[in-house]
This record gives sequence, C-alpha cells and structure tokens, in this order.
Amino acid sequence: MILVTGATGTVGGHVVRLLTERGVPFRAMSRRERPGGVRADFDDPASLTRAVADVDTVFLVTVPPAPTADHDIALITAALAAGVRKIVKLSAIGSGERFDGATVGAWHLAAEEAIEASGLVWTMLRPPSFASNFLWYRALIQAGETIPNLVGASRQAVVDPRDVAAVAVAAMTSDAHDGQRYDLTGPELLTFADQAAILERVLERPVKITDTSALDQLPTGMITGIGWARAGGAAYITDHVPRVLGRPAGTFEQWARDHRERFAAMP
Ligand SMILES: NC(=O)c1ccc[n+]([C@@H]2O[C@H](COP(=O)([O-])OP(=O)(O)OC[C@H]3O[C@@H](n4cnc5c(N)ncnc54)[C@H](OP(=O)(O)O)[C@@H]3O)[C@@H](O)[C@H]2O)c1
Repeated sequence: MILVTGATGTVGGHVVRLLTERGVPFRAMSRRERPGGVRADFDDPASLTRAVADVDTVFLVTVPPAPTADHDIALITAALAAGVRKIVKLSAIGSGERFDGATVGAWHLAAEEAIEASGLVWTMLRPPSFASNFLWYRALIQAGETIPNLVGASRQAVVDPRDVAAVAVAAMTSDAHDGQRYDLTGPELLTFADQAAILERVLERPVKITDTSALDQLPTGMITGIGWARAGGAAYITDHVPRVLGRPAGTFEQWARDHRERFAAMP
C-alpha cells in the first residue's frame, strides 16, 4: 500500500492519476473528507497514525508556510511506528546551498536529513520551478494584467510536474531508485520572460510580466531559494528525468499546449 500525501495538489494529483491508471493500490491523503481517501493533517499526529496504518511506501509532500521540517518529521515519526519501509520525498532543487548568509530550502534539507537518519529507504526528488506555476496567475492573464517576475533574467530548466509525478511513481514502484537524489529538471533553460513569451504564443493572448524583487509576501522558507534562483543558482539541466523515464523530459511549450483550456476557463 502506498500513501500519497499532498494528493489534492499539483504533483500528488498526477501521482494519484498514474497509480490509478496502473492499478497500483494507494491511499490518498487530504485534510478534507474525500471518497476513497484518508482525512489527515500533518498537525494532527493521531490522524497521521491512521493514514500510515499498513502502508509500505509514502509519497511525502509538505508545503509552506511552515518554514520548518515539523510536518515531515511528524510523518516520519508515524511512519517509523507503523513499520513503513520507504519514503519518496518531494524536495526542491538547491536545498542545502548557501545564499546570502542563509540556507536554501532549509526545511527541505532538515527533512531530507531526518529521513536519511531514520533508517527508512528513501528517494529525494528535487525539481526546479514547475511549469504549472503559471496557473497561479491565470486570473491576471485573463484580466490582461501583469504577472510578477521574482527571478529576474535568471534561467531555470522549468519542469513539467507530470514528469515529477512519473519519477515519483517509478521510485515508489521499484527499488532501482532507492537512495537516489534526483534533480528533476526540464530539457531547456528558460528565463521567466521566455516562459511568458511561449505562453503568449500558445494562448494567443498577452502574457505581461513585471520585474519585482519584493519578496516579503512570500513564506519565509521560500525567500532564500528565490534569491538563489534569481542569482542563477538553478541554471542547469540534468539527465535525471530521461534516465528514470526512458524518454525526454517535457518542454514548457508542451505543458502550455496541454493546459491551454485551463487558462481559457474562469478560475
Ligand atoms: N511549485 C514549484 O515550482 C516547486 C518547485 C520545486 C519544489 N516544489 C515543492 O513541491 C511541494 C509542493 O508540491 P505541490 O505543488 O504538488 O503542492 P500543492 O499543489 O501546493 O498542494 C499542497 C498539498 O498539501 C496538502 N496539505 C497542505 N497542508 C497540509 C496539512 N497541514 N496536512 C496535510 N496535507 C496538507 C494539500 O491537501 P489538502 O488541502 O487537500 O489538505 C495539498 O494536497 C513543496 O514542498 C515545494 O517546496 C515546488
């Protein structure tokens, strides 16, 4: 049995779809009551105990605003007590790098270290920005307003979250990826302006961006990482997606084409 945390989110949603298509048994975790799912909250240890009962492998997704590894550690604690064997953790590129006197992705790093120290089998997935982040801005795009560009002219190999999910499923359903730390990049380095230009072409409507370095609205756990990316820290491509999946990583343009309808519909 696989427990998919973050099952209603971007990557977890794709993991659920892929496991369903393959007929692999899983339990989808959410804080909301959902048919066939398990309702649990990282802040409620008793609910985690119920979620991990009889589970072999966990797909672990934790999200800001908590800038600590508390949620990961709560899950690890419940997993160890229940005899879980493996954790596949969704982390982030650059976690543990130093930038501007601080640690990039400090909470992900602390969580990775806790998983390693736990004795559980693990795989760490460390993607850069998801192509799907543009969906956060669809109301602005529909209104013809500008989107904030937090990363300046830096380039990143933005990744299709469907590829991140496919690697997660590979890691959960085989032992070939145990003990691996994968930087799950897309196939090309793009600036934010490059991505906006591609989206504009695909949507056939303006996608305007404006440079901003005002990061104070962001959860504290993310600010150092954005600064690191803005300074070019994430400007590299790896072959980890093609190596695991046996096919090229998806392009930003393909992601945009496949999600054209989502930008047309009202949010
Ligand atoms: N976006 C990017 O560009 C990017 C890049 C690299 C790494 N990442 C990493 O990817 C992760 C986010 O993945 P995602 O974008 O797939 O997530 P997401 O779409 O933001 O979804 C968040 C999920 O977490 C669940 N959740 C939130 N708080 C919870 C709580 N207290 N207890 C239990 N579940 C809770 C939500 O479920 P319910 O609301 O249904 O409970 C939801 O399923 C983060 O760790 C981030 O650092 C993101």
